[in-house]
Parts: sequence; C-alpha cells; structure tokens
Amino acid sequence: MTATVRAAVVASDDALAGVHPAWLPPEAFRALGSRSVLVLGAGPLVDTVAAEMAGACERFGGSARFAPDPDAAEDGAAPADLVLELTPSDGTAGDEGFFVERVDGRTRVRAGGGAGLLHGFFHVVRLGERAFDDRAVGGPGGAPQLHRPAVARRMLDHWDNVDVHPVRGQVERGYSGGSLFWEAGRRRRDLRRVRDYARLLAATGINALTVNNVNVARTEAHLLTDRLDDVVAIAAELRPYGIRTHLSVSFAAPIVVGGLATADPLDDQVREWWHEAADAVHAALPDFGGFVVKADSEGQPGPFAYGRSHADGANLLADALAPHGGVVHWRAFVYNHRQDWRDRTTDRANAAYDHFAPLDGLFRDNVVLQVKHGPIDFQVREPVSPVIAVMPRTRLAVELQVTQEYTGQQQHVCYLAPMWREALGFRFWGDAGPTVAGVAAGGPTERGGSLVAVSNAGDDPFWTGHPLAQANLYAFGRLAWAPELDPAAVLDEWIDLTFPDAPPDGPLRETLHALMDGSWLRYERYTAPLGVGFMVRPGHHYGPDVDGYEYTPWGTYHFADRDGVGVDRTVATGTGFAGRYPAGWAQRYESLDRCPDELLLFFHHVPYEHRLHDGSTVVQHIYDTHAEGAQEVVEAAELWERPGIAEAVGAAVHERVRERLREQVRSAAEWRDQLCTYFYRKSGVPDAHGRVHP
Ligand code: GCU
Repeated sequence: MTATVRAAVVASDDALAGVHPAWLPPEAFRALGSRSVLVLGAGPLVDTVAAEMAGACERFGGSARFAPDPDAAEDGAAPADLVLELTPSDGTAGDEGFFVERVDGRTRVRAGGGAGLLHGFFHVVRLGERAFDDRAVGGPGGAPQLHRPAVARRMLDHWDNVDVHPVRGQVERGYSGGSLFWEAGRRRRDLRRVRDYARLLAATGINALTVNNVNVARTEAHLLTDRLDDVVAIAAELRPYGIRTHLSVSFAAPIVVGGLATADPLDDQVREWWHEAADAVHAALPDFGGFVVKADSEGQPGPFAYGRSHADGANLLADALAPHGGVVHWRAFVYNHRQDWRDRTTDRANAAYDHFAPLDGLFRDNVVLQVKHGPIDFQVREPVSPVIAVMPRTRLAVELQVTQEYTGQQQHVCYLAPMWREALGFRFWGDAGPTVAGVAAGGPTERGGSLVAVSNAGDDPFWTGHPLAQANLYAFGRLAWAPELDPAAVLDEWIDLTFPDAPPDGPLRETLHALMDGSWLRYERYTAPLGVGFMVRPGHHYGPDVDGYEYTPWGTYHFADRDGVGVDRTVATGTGFAGRYPAGWAQRYESLDRCPDELLLFFHHVPYEHRLHDGSTVVQHIYDTHAEGAQEVVEAAELWERPGIAEAVGAAVHERVRERLREQVRSAAEWRDQLCTYFYRKSGVPDAHGRVHP
C-alpha cells in the first residue's frame, strides 16, 4: 500500500518570508512536482525526501506516494514517472552514492542508504526536465549511472561566535550579517532558517558542519559542556538533511570549563576529563561528528605550553572520541604571529610544514589534519601547500575559504570555483600521481579525509551579502562532491536553479558568465600581482595598503625596495620553502626561468625590470594588469544594467548587486591607483603606456 506523504519536514514558507530562496526556489522543483512520484523506503532521510516531494507535488499538481516497504509498492496505481527507492546496497555506491537510470519511460533513483537517496533526489532536482529525458539520464537499457562523492566528509566551518566578540564580532570574517545560529550571547530562539540552510547545503552535497568559530573564547568553550543543549538544538535542524554537527573546542577546556590546573595532554586527569566530555556529548548527540581544534595558533592555547607535540594534543582528543566514532579535525595553521620583521630567515610559509611533516604517522586514525590550501592564508594566489604532499600516513582535510576575507569581502564579485578547481586538481607528483582532492579523499592510505571550507553565509536576506556570492557556497559543495567539475558548468547549474523563470533566450546567463567566470583572475589583476599577497589594510583586510603588513609581526611581507620586489623562498639564496615540494615542483619553483609567472613574486625577489614569459617587465605588468582589471570592473558593472537583467533576477537582487558593483568599481580604482603609484615611486620606472602615476 502506498500512502500520501506525511507532513512536510521542510521549513514553512513563513521562515522564508523576506529571505531569498537562493538555489532552491519553489520553481526549481517544478519538473518533479508536476509528475507522479513514488518514494520507497523507510528512515529519517527517506522521510525528508518524501516530504520534499509531497510539498513539490502539492504546489505543482503532481502526485507523491510513499511506501516504507518497497514490496508493498505495486498496488495497482498508475506507474510513477519518478521512483526514488531505497534498495539493499551492493556496496558500489557507498553510504552516500546512488544510481540513476531510465527504465520503461520512468526515471529511477536507487540508493543503499537514506543519505544516498537524499543526494539522488537533489541530483534529479538539478536536472529538472532533463531528469525525464532518455538522452540526459541514459537511454532505456543503458547502464545505470553511478554517482558517489569523491571525498567522504564535505564540511563547512562557521567562524560564528556565541557572544559578539569585541574584535571578531558575531561572525569572524563574516560579511553576511549576523550568525544563523547565535545572537548576542544566546542560541537563536527561532532556528527555522537553520533548517532551510541545511536544505540548501544538502542540495550541494555538504554533509558536515561546525557550528562555532575555531577561535574559541570563554563562552564558546562552554558549548562542550553546560551549553551542550544549544548544540543539540542546532543539530536537530541539520540532521533531517543529512548534515552532522561538529564543534570547535578549546584545547584549554579542561582548565577553562573543567576547573583543572592543567590541560597537559599527557596528564591523567586531563585525559579523563576529555573522555568524560566526549562521552557526554555523544550521549546527547549520538551522531555527533567530532571536534575542530585550532591550537598554538594566533593566541589559541595548545600542547606547546606543556612541551608536548601536536600529535600528543590531537591524539588526546582523538582517544576521547574514538569509542564513539568521532573525528578530530586538527588544524595545521600553526605559525609564529609574533615574528620580528627584521629577521629575513623566518618564513611563515615554512611553518606548517616544519611543524607537521615530522609528525606524519604519529596521529591516531581518527585525526584529520586540516591544512589550508595555500601555505600562508587564503590569499588570492598562493601555491598549493606542500604539507598536503608530505603526510602520506596522515588523514588530511584541505581547507578552503568561501567567505571572501581576502577576495573582496562579498562587496566584489569573485567567483572562487576556478581557484578551487585549480588547487584541488593540482598534482604534486606529475600527471600519473593523485590530485590534491585525491590526496584528501584518501590517497595512498585510502583512509579518507575531508574537504572543508569556511562558510560565507549569515542571516542576511540573501544569505551571503552579495547575492552572486551564493554561487561560491553552492560551488564549494559541488566541487567537494566532484572536484573535476567545470566551474562554468557549476555556475550554469546555479543559474538554472536560482533563476528558473529567467527567459532562456534572455541576456541573464551570458551576463552572469561575463561577470563571474573570470572574476577571480580579474580580482587578482587589480589587487595582488604575481603571487604577492597581503597588501591589504591590516585588521579588517579590505582595500589596498601596500605596506600595511610590511613592518608587523605577522610574517607577511613583500620586501619591495627601490630595486625590486618579492620573497626569495629559494633553497639557494632564500628561505628554502621551494625545496619543501616534491622534486619536480621544487625544481620548477626554485628556477627563476621556470617558475610560473603568477607565482614569481611568491618564490623570488626580482628587479622591477625582470622580464616575464610574455616579455613584459614586472613593473609594467603591475601597471598594465591593474589598469586592465579596474577597467574590466567598470565594464562588468555596465553589463548589469543591460535591459532584461533586472526582470530576470528580480528587483531586490538587481538592486543589491548594483550597489555592490558600485563599490567594486570604486575599490578597484583605489587598488589600481595605490598599487601603481606605490611601485612607480619605489622603482622610478615610468609606465610605457604613458599613464601618469602620481
Ligand atoms: C586568518 C583570519 C583569522 C582566522 C585565521 C584562521 O588569519 O584572518 O580571522 O582566525 O585565519 O584560519 O584561524
């Protein structure tokens, strides 16, 4: 017997009042909701799929039926157009994978588990009408298509604070209003938006989320113990969409919340304290994912205070979580932020490598070492971190930054998927070796790591401040599932879902591609030349300030003087960072001739009139790219005013994007002028194209 589906688990329309639906507007479900659909199977995530289908069919006139027991499904009713079915797994699809096929004019999605069925459901949502097209899904008699995620854990970290921190605010590096979870010291009373958020994330393939900042202050440290209820309440909103909850914890928690005199990882009382804490968390939250830890970094406490290693520290927490199947994401972002700028031998780029490479093989199996994709800190251009290559016996997470701290802070259009695609597709060991995503997926050890990103979402009505920054959040999830996807194709998916009613022959798609496809490289052109980073305003990191960090303790320098610019990271004469890569890349980065131009100043200090591979000089390249980049922003802003765009995206989105583009035009001109003038004054070399730099 099939039954009409029970009450919807999806958030009510009320929760969405005034909130942009991002990539899941009701119309995105039209193709499915106007058909007859059968959902077969039982379990919480199957219920979610069933409720989704019930809602869509109610809206668009289709019919949704539901049977917990697949054998009872054939009750004489008309065959369904779409069958979403839980079937005994043969293991090929894993927990989260699914098969999709066309059989006898029906589309059939099969999964061995609820998570797989949920992902399969969102896959057909993405396909829309094409889900019912033999050519798109595979014709009758064709082999079922198997989809499974490249990486087991696809996690978003929220740098959200419970309290409004005097420096870091409610959301550290947040450019989208307040937190979705926390408000001025408390958990939000109304968590319906969290449910909607989980739904959006599930539709991209995300399956894990950390609810608080890696910088754990006193209030936030209590989430682990006496404020665990808050975490439990948030987890209840994430769970129906297959998202597991993780928690950032303070390494000093035994002292800060436990009242012990020490947090020494080798102290018995400390060990016992962590075991009890982990037991209590798992008792309240049986599907708890685990801890995220920033230790001995930027003022956060860690094992160094006790003369212990990071393996001692991480293993302490891992042992406490192990009986429950939890994992520790231990961040490799460890460096000296009190460096003397006069000391040219210390290089922040070396820090994570030098701290962690000697520890490979010493971590417990449920430790995942979380490494930022570049060796410094989410700059617009960095080489891939060599830490990822040097830990074959350690599970790894590669960390990306969706929030645009250094890439325009959601004031500028900067579609980051091309950058991530490049980093995730990078190969340390030549064409036959694994990609970075492959290493994170398990690489030689097959033990499975994570792809992690810092979220850009908040309580802003558009979720991400800049409406076009939604595409970054969407793209992270999609690339974490399938790192080989083409960023432009991912953008098309996002456009199709987000603006389903835009006229197909209208200008929207082309305009969005013109604005977004090349926006990362455009941002690079008018900001950071040739791999030099950190020419930003200290503290908030928005806008140009070439020497802002030059004489600070943060280890982020460009060393521009009257003769040249760049950081000598060679083995021969510099800090030796180039030598920390596997041989092929080490040689390439070491060589002034063979180093890729876009990373030239990351690896070398060169005279201003050093010639790049295209024949231009470094200083002329700076003048030219900054002029071009800023001009391209002006043109992009003009495209947004084309007839038909406002109608296609709606007045509210159009106005918000227009506002931000104005700021981007202003800011790009400021970047251009400050950078060009700075380097003209330093070098004394005039612009070959006669532009005047005051
Ligand atoms: C950057 C960022 C900080 C953040 C840190 C981290 O330095 O500016 O706000 O805390 O990264 O990743 O821990």
